[in-house]
Amino acid sequence: MSAQYEVRGPVAVIKLDNPPVNGLGHATRLGIANGLDRALADPAVKAIVLTGAGKAFSGGADIREFGSPKALAEPNLLSVILALEASGKPTIAAVHSVAMGGGLELALGCHYRVVSPGAQIALPEVKIGLIPGAGGTQRLPRVLGVENALNMIVSGEPVKSELLAAAPGQKLFDKLIDGDLMAGALAFAAEVADKRPLPLVRNLKVEHPNADAYFQFARNTVGAMSRNFPAPLKCVEAVAASAKMKFDDGMKVERELFLGLMVTPECKALRHAFTAERATTKIPDVPADTPVRDIKKLAVIGAGTMGGGITMNFLNAGLPVVMLEMKQDALDRGVATIRKNYEAQVKKGKLKADKYEQRMALLSTTLNYADLKDADMVIEAVFEEMGVKEKVFKTLDEVMKPGAILASNTSTLDVDKIAGFTKRPQDVIGTHFFSPANVMKLLEVVRGEKTAKDVLATVMGLGKKIKKTCVVSGVCDGFIGNRMIEQYSRQAGFLLDEGCTPAQVDKAVEKFGFAMGPFRMGDLAGNDIGWAIRKRRYQEKPHMRYSKTADLLCELGRYGQKTGAGWYDYVPGKRDAIPSSVVTDMLEKHRAALGITPRKISDDEIVHRLVFSLVNEGAKIVDEGIALRASDIDMVYLTGYGFPLHRGGPMCYADTVGLFNVVAAMKRFAANPRDDAEFWKPAPLLARLAAEGNTFG
Ligand SMILES: NC(=O)c1ccc[n+]([C@@H]2O[C@H](COP(=O)([O-])OP(=O)(O)OC[C@H]3O[C@@H](n4cnc5c(N)ncnc54)[C@H](O)[C@@H]3O)[C@@H](O)[C@H]2O)c1
Repeated sequence: MSAQYEVRGPVAVIKLDNPPVNGLGHATRLGIANGLDRALADPAVKAIVLTGAGKAFSGGADIREFGSPKALAEPNLLSVILALEASGKPTIAAVHSVAMGGGLELALGCHYRVVSPGAQIALPEVKIGLIPGAGGTQRLPRVLGVENALNMIVSGEPVKSELLAAAPGQKLFDKLIDGDLMAGALAFAAEVADKRPLPLVRNLKVEHPNADAYFQFARNTVGAMSRNFPAPLKCVEAVAASAKMKFDDGMKVERELFLGLMVTPECKALRHAFTAERATTKIPDVPADTPVRDIKKLAVIGAGTMGGGITMNFLNAGLPVVMLEMKQDALDRGVATIRKNYEAQVKKGKLKADKYEQRMALLSTTLNYADLKDADMVIEAVFEEMGVKEKVFKTLDEVMKPGAILASNTSTLDVDKIAGFTKRPQDVIGTHFFSPANVMKLLEVVRGEKTAKDVLATVMGLGKKIKKTCVVSGVCDGFIGNRMIEQYSRQAGFLLDEGCTPAQVDKAVEKFGFAMGPFRMGDLAGNDIGWAIRKRRYQEKPHMRYSKTADLLCELGRYGQKTGAGWYDYVPGKRDAIPSSVVTDMLEKHRAALGITPRKISDDEIVHRLVFSLVNEGAKIVDEGIALRASDIDMVYLTGYGFPLHRGGPMCYADTVGLFNVVAAMKRFAANPRDDAEFWKPAPLLARLAAEGNTFG
């Protein structure tokens, strides 16, 4: 049973005990219900304290039960809360550290609540596409007032207990206990043991001087901010019900809204992203207790676009970095860019001036490899040429201390080959950051053939420390993300060949929810990068079909925003993408030369050809073991490529569409003579799952 029971004098103490955060799984709920029964049956017990063992009161639902029948099995959370309310002896929640979601709802079902300062209090259900479903939307407004409660419920963000306890008129906490919480709770229990009637949150009135106008305002603002997600507006409706209806009727509204949201694709996508994020850290042959190397100081080679951004991550986390370049002016430029970035944050009020200085004080620079000898890890971010990488890694092998981790930020080169330049390939790993490296959440951690397990574990831990979403990738061309995006770009090219304009493709994809369509993205990143890669790639694989449109664009010198023209025209100093007659002409001539009569292509076809091209390559990546699981691919796309969160990532989206339907669409695309039948051959894993009626999930 996941709750302890003991009697201390006249008080029964029920202590939730389900590490790590006392999730309210079935055994824990049963433990509370049984503890309550025992306490009520014991004539010596006059009051009941409910508290949490370890590092939380309760973090809410047990995510291990997500989607399983156990999550709803009796006693469910609503029944437990009703039993606490109905108790003839006073129940007191003693809250420390964390009371979130169901944990807070449980506390709200008690007659009294005492709390330690510093506890994080939240109803975060909105973050997984839901509203609180065990009375949170009806009870929180009764103790905090409509506006404070709605802010917490719509944002899902935690608020510190001492702030809530100090809010005027609040009835959430009866006492803020500095010092020993249990001693304070027992004393409080003794004080209230004989007080009758027992106070119930449900009996409190919800008052607002101008409720209708306030909720209309809330609908407008929340609706505008939560475009693709239904849950935030439902939070408003549920809280509005608390103000308008009797408690039990409000509870019914909450229940209906909760169950309605549960089956939406958006909720499914958000829950998927939530569990997928946690799954990324699990590496089957590298258990969580794998010893890690101590990383106290880092070195970064190259102070360019990536080197500077990478460095900032570690300075932000309080780790010293020494940056090495070939020439002083390159170092100076690198440091100036870092300063500029921090100064912009200071100006916006996002960073305190003294913090900025502390971070800069952690940065040192050098032109001399000897200065790297005491670094525990080095990350190389020099030019993307094997010859340059070879020289750098041979030198690092000579100067770095034994056991230091040698990482490369290469985006396209073979990490095993790079490891082979050293006599310590077990210490070499890929750390593929995304640009801007100080902003983007994604870090692909590239596990080489010989990378030692403790090196992988160390880098995953370090990635967490710098707040990245780390996804393990095996070695292959482009790793997970770029290998997939190549197929997406090829397909985008075929769409132009057939009659689409860049703007039409971008708009369709952006309507689907992508942050940016492929052509606007190309203009931002620089079309010349893909051009260089294609020259190499299609020399190696001459049989691979691709559209020549992007090459023709580059031959016109239209590299994108940096040259003031790309797929679109740009006005100097502005980033607005303006459809270009030069590009339209170029595309028309290209089609005429190929004898193509352009056809009108629907938004639906555009989106599905692009997204399913990701899915098919993703399936190959899982099958080959490059990605550990399909959900890792979703995390790569959600955190590194602007894939719409409400779709859950390409693999999750494919599951939602149904893999049978995905394969059927691919067959239709393959039959199009302007497309590429080879391209649309379903990956074996995809074909198998579709035939079995199975999913990637
Ligand atoms: N730019 C991106 O979006 C991006 C994204 C992911 C990975 N990468 C990879 O990161 C690496 C760096 O890319 P970047 O965009 O920062 O390039 P960059 O040209 O902006 O910077 C490279 C820096 O390395 C320095 N350098 C070159 N050779 C060196 C040497 N032998 N010793 C020390 N310094 C040297 C250069 O002076 C330059 O400042 C490449 O491998 C690239 O493929 C880039």
